[in-house]
Amino acid sequence: MRSEPLVLGIETSCDETGIALVRGRTLLSDVVASNVEEHVRFGGVVPEVASRAHLEAFAPTLARACAEAGARVTDVDAIAVTAGPGLAGALLVGISAAQGLALAIDRPLYGVNHLAAHVAVDRLAHGELPQPAIALLVSGGHTSLLRVDDVTCDVESLGATLDDAAGEAFDKVARLLGLSFPGGPAIDALARGGDPAAIDFPRGLTRPRDEVAHRHDFSFSGLKTAVVRWLEACRREGIDIPRADVAASFQEAVVDVLVRKAVRACRDEGIDTLVVGGGVAANSRLRMLLDERAGGLDVRVPPSRLCTDNGAMVASLGVALVARNAPPTSLGFGADSSLPVETVLT
Ligand code: KG4
Ligand code: ZN
Repeated sequence: MRSEPLVLGIETSCDETGIALVRGRTLLSDVVASNVEEHVRFGGVVPEVASRAHLEAFAPTLARACAEAGARVTDVDAIAVTAGPGLAGALLVGISAAQGLALAIDRPLYGVNHLAAHVAVDRLAHGELPQPAIALLVSGGHTSLLRVDDVTCDVESLGATLDDAAGEAFDKVARLLGLSFPGGPAIDALARGGDPAAIDFPRGLTRPRDEVAHRHDFSFSGLKTAVVRWLEACRREGIDIPRADVAASFQEAVVDVLVRKAVRACRDEGIDTLVVGGGVAANSRLRMLLDERAGGLDVRVPPSRLCTDNGAMVASLGVALVARNAPPTSLGFGADSSLPVETVLT
């Protein structure tokens, strides 16, 4: 019997250089070289700095991924690389390196969608995704509800954020609270000591009239403004800011809406599998609330380290593409910083 395909996955869309080797559903190595530290003093990712960091990290990260998997680059059956969405310059570093490698070792290359990869990574944790499934995708740049009939070729957007992404809201509110970048993990930690019911922050797009026009959409900018106003009022009145309560109440407002809308999308579509992906899926309160409100749904949330950006997600989608004999991407494709979520393969 021919062994399952061995795929090299390469991810450089933002601030992590992620390179992994996956055979079938087995993760052989997953190395992430983060350049997040280089952006901390700017309070957000600086594209030029990220591109240069990817360039420096690429060769050593590849060497480590191969060593940890006990494989040589020439052993791989195919290469998958994030083609978008993301920062154009950062994406180009990964894409150019992948194209060079594919040419050198004469293997098929797949230029894949970062968002579909966030969904496909769950294969490695919980087995092949039952399809159709609903996917809740919550990252620093995107917040979407997707109907996934086939993660390799049939993904439909049911709704998305109209303004800030969930992760972006975490990052911005963290900055208001004087926490470091990226804000999600910092708020998650601070919120553990706070009361989620202390402040009744608004739940975006949940009023009756929004339920019709924006049933599966999200909005977090009003919530961010509410936090700004609340902090201003404290300062005006000379009250000490209860930072943990603000963090917990803000976090509750975000995850309450995410879970409510995701569960309802499953009911609306008559689908009983919900998969959650993207950096915000690492949030401990989101994971807890999904458990509490799952109500008979099969809820799949990958382990936290597979939720934030990594190469394993790209390799996992690559394996699924190879398994269904998808035609590889022709060499010479470019980065698409706003690749639509429906386009799984460029
Ligand atoms: O998927 P990801 O690693 O990169 C993008 O594709 O954007 O997501 C990064 C985002 C950041 O906004 C970060 O603050 C957020 O995920 N994040 C979290 C947590 N860990 C990472 N948000 C809330 N709670 C967390 N534990
Ligand atoms: Zn991501």
